[in-house]
Parts: sequence; structure tokens; C-alpha cells
Amino acid sequence: MKLNSILAGVLLGVAALGAQAQTVIKFSHVVAADTPKGKGAEFFAKRAAELTKGKVKVEVYANSTLYKDKEEMEALQLGAVQMLAPSLSKFGPLGIKEFELFDLPYLFDDYKDLHLVTDGPVGKSLFQKLETKGLVGLGYWDNGFKVMSANKPLKNPEDYKGLKMRIQSSNVLDAQMRAVGSIPQKMAFSEVYQALQTGVVDGTENPPSNLYTQKMHEVQKHVSLTNHGYIGYAVITNKKFWDALPADVRGQLEQAMKESTKYANDIAKEDNERALEEVRKSGKSQIYTPTAAEKLALKKAMVKVHSEMASRIGKESIDIVYKATNFDPSKL
Ligand code: LMR
Repeated sequence: MKLNSILAGVLLGVAALGAQAQTVIKFSHVVAADTPKGKGAEFFAKRAAELTKGKVKVEVYANSTLYKDKEEMEALQLGAVQMLAPSLSKFGPLGIKEFELFDLPYLFDDYKDLHLVTDGPVGKSLFQKLETKGLVGLGYWDNGFKVMSANKPLKNPEDYKGLKMRIQSSNVLDAQMRAVGSIPQKMAFSEVYQALQTGVVDGTENPPSNLYTQKMHEVQKHVSLTNHGYIGYAVITNKKFWDALPADVRGQLEQAMKESTKYANDIAKEDNERALEEVRKSGKSQIYTPTAAEKLALKKAMVKVHSEMASRIGKESIDIVYKATNFDPSKL
């Protein structure tokens, strides 16, 4: 073997020894890539690589390809993955039921209301609770306001009676469906399409971006624009993993996360509007806009969940949100 190539080999070896091993972040989530969360995760991967100059590689696993809802939380705590962005409705099983505050029906009128809470003391105190589970909260990412769907028109509270409705693993959503006489079924997101197609459940609730990208509109004849609740996410990581990162790298990742949070929240509303247009264009579902009277009737039927769930979520945080958003259930 020629001297040059041996020298080249040695130099390469020395260089490799000197260079810090690349850190790989597995970022697993359950929705399609073409959603606010899917795009936010890809944006983070790009910025993390750029800001750390390749020291960190983020591998994004969308659509439950790596882990389903329940498994992904366990995988993060065990360190099998390094980052997730679960729905705020999915922290109850982890023992932090206070996150179900975000599931209270009709609590938020719009994204502005929502950000008063995620960027405020309640948002911060919920992230502190994550630390007790060995997790760190990195940001709140929006998706959007939910619509109801089924294979029959949904106009009045009576129309929900007896329907089997798929929900996320939240007791507040369970109470919300029972409040209109439906039978709630907690189920992993990856199982919903098939459950609707086979009739295991009759209907469900979702922001349009999830309804459309999971093709649920193809197995639901009717969509009602109720905007009765909100789905958003907490981007979380494993505390041991995060604390062990070199300080400069952690700072660069925090910057990437800050930019990704702004990006994901900037695109969320438009993404859902576009998805709804696609559902409309498909002609597969009839889209119904409840009248003001119908919306008020549904709101009155569901708002009793707020007091029912106050002991579970914590009356204090509900009161803080009521004050911040000027919500007064007694005025309904
Ligand atoms: C659901 O299970 O319906 C949603 O939480 C999925 C998601 O992450 O948006």
C-alpha cells in the first residue's frame, strides 16, 4: 500500500477522533407529514442541522411509523426516542391530568385566547410538572379548532345521542361526549381511520388538517364546523438526554426550537383552512355550518363539563384562564 494512502488514512483517523460524534435526535409523532406538526418537525430538523453545523441530526418519524400514541411516551422516558410532540390531551395517562384544561369545550374563541394561556403562567406551570416525569417542555405548537364528523348530520345536541365517538385519551373529552349523550371511545390516532371505516365507531372530532390528511372525510359523510375545542401540542424531550448535551449545542437547539415554534404556529390556521377546502372539493363529506342558535345549544350542553372537571384539572388554573380570556359560563 502506498505511503500516501496510509498517511491519508491516519489523518482521517485522527480527524475522526478529534471530531465530536454526531448526536442523533429521533423525533417521533403520530400525524401526517403534511400537517402543522409534521411541517414543524421537519423545519426543526433543518434548523437544528444548520445551527449546530451538523453536530446534531434530527430524524423525524411521522404517522406513528416508529411508535403509536401510548408507546411513544414510554419510549421517550426510556430514551429510545429523544423528542415528541404529543397532543395536550394525552398527558393524563402520564399522570399530569392538568393538561386536560386545554380540552375544555368552548374555552378558547381563537388562537389569540389560546396563546394568552400557553405563553402565560398556566403554560409555564404545566411545563414545570413535566420535570417530575423526567421530561422537559420545549414549546407549545398549535394545530387548530375541532370539527365533529359522523355519517349523519350533526346540527343539534340531540343528533349526538347514542353515537360512538372516538376521542383522545382524555377524561375531559370523555365527559364532553357524554354531555351530549354520545358514547366516548378512547383510541390511538393510528387506529381511527379503520375504526370509522368498519363502524367500530360512528364519528369523531378533529381539526380539519387531521381529518383530511388521515382521509377520515372519505369514511364520514357529514362534517359539522362546531369549533367546540382545540388540539395543540407540547414538544417534549427526555431530561437526562437534554441536560447531558454540551451547553453550546443545547443553546443552538433551543434557538432552532424557538424558530420552529413560531413557524408551526404561523402556518397552523392556514393549514387547517386549506385542508377544509380540500375536504369540500373532494365532495366526499357534506360540510355544515351550525347556526348561531345551534352553536349556542351545543355550547350550553357541553360547558357543564368545566365545573364537572374542575377538581381533576384544578379550579385555580381554570379561573386564571377564565380571567385571561374573559370567559364567563354564567353568561351563556
Ligand atoms: C388525535 O389523537 O386525534 C390527535 O392528538 C393526533 C395529533 O397528534 O394531532
